[in-house]
Amino acid sequence: MDRGRVTRRRARLAARGVPRRAAWALAGLVVWSLAACTAPATPAPSATGQQVEVLTWWASGAEKLAMDVLVQQFRAAHPDVTYVDGSVVGGAGSVAKDVLGSRLANHDPPDTFQVHGGAELAAHVEAGQVQPLTDLYDRLGLTDVLSPAVLDLVSVDGVPYAVPVDVHRANLLWANTAVLVAAGLDPTARYDSLDSWLDALSAVRASGHVPLALGSTWTQVHLLEAVLLSRLGPQAYAGLWDGTTDATSPAVATAVGDFARLLGYTNPDRDSLDWQDAATLVANGDAAFTVMGDWAQQVLDPPVVWAPFPGTEGVDDVVLDAFAVPVGAPHPDGAEAWLTTIAGAETQAAFANAKGAAPARADVPMTALDTYPRTAFLALRSGVRVPSLAHGMAAPPDALTEITDVVARLANGTASTSQLQAALAEAATPAATPAASTP
Ligand code: BGC
Repeated sequence: MDRGRVTRRRARLAARGVPRRAAWALAGLVVWSLAACTAPATPAPSATGQQVEVLTWWASGAEKLAMDVLVQQFRAAHPDVTYVDGSVVGGAGSVAKDVLGSRLANHDPPDTFQVHGGAELAAHVEAGQVQPLTDLYDRLGLTDVLSPAVLDLVSVDGVPYAVPVDVHRANLLWANTAVLVAAGLDPTARYDSLDSWLDALSAVRASGHVPLALGSTWTQVHLLEAVLLSRLGPQAYAGLWDGTTDATSPAVATAVGDFARLLGYTNPDRDSLDWQDAATLVANGDAAFTVMGDWAQQVLDPPVVWAPFPGTEGVDDVVLDAFAVPVGAPHPDGAEAWLTTIAGAETQAAFANAKGAAPARADVPMTALDTYPRTAFLALRSGVRVPSLAHGMAAPPDALTEITDVVARLANGTASTSQLQAALAEAATPAATPAASTP
């Protein structure tokens, strides 16, 4: 990103008085500062003429099945409102966010859209693109059932702008234990540092398997984020986004160098794969490891196991999914009906079980949750929390776009690690970045 653009963005933020976001209060340190395009089908209008078009990227595979849980609950609760599928295929919203941007620019908004909390949502608020949801929050009593940490991620200046539906954890390492055994490695080993894991990757390579399955660019940024977190630790990782960590420091240079080295252990066809395809390489025993969020447990079964990414034990790299209502939404009543459904405790429990996530509501009983969502719920409460870069929580969208672009060029050999460091240095936005919190 050119310096002028960064400066203009910062000036804009400062002029609007965008504040440092409030601290998480649940647990741990947190620093925060937000396919094809499937044209919505035109279903028959409901008897009352009400409808809601929902733009989401949970459009295929296990994610679509989880989305179907929300849709079923919605249809049962609001039989008079027609659900219009505005889904867009592409992991992590890699395509949906562009489609949304075009539609908002063309004054053709959906009724509600999926958005990450933190910096990504804050950017929509700053651009005046989303409606405040204070009345809905009051009516549903939502402020009382969300942890301060979660509430903070969907609010700007104390005003809620989205309804959160789940919370994911990004920093997980997935390993096919059969492939590890074939490589002469201990399948029960936990790697407490990047160095010990790099040794394991070399052993896998020597055995003839792909050491690390990787997908297209957003998954590469996901890997970069895990490496930064591992090498820098949670505090300094989080400091990258509010400028308290110097991104040009030798420690960051080491991490970026490690990331570049790791790319050398990956599958050559990575740019043509989404995260599910990379996960499948591990599931099929073609690759030993992949680094992906906990949503991958819906597609990975034993002998594939997960552990915190090396050197990030006890840290929860948070990805929060929410839905917001754009300004000018054509069917605001339909949008409200959708948000009311997904805000419900029973819906959130059912969705968490289908998605492999923690529910966003703090009051969902543990007994309603399956094993993994329970684990995730506990990790969220007890872990040291940091915001995910790749999933829009840590840095504003234009900064993430720039980092993503440089990562893509680094991967294809047309950018250097120092250019990536420079892009990281440009991403820090003190005014708009979530603040730190401890238990
Ligand atoms: C979303 C998850 C989703 C993942 C892969 C993340 O950005 O928050 O809900 O499963 O991307 O699409």
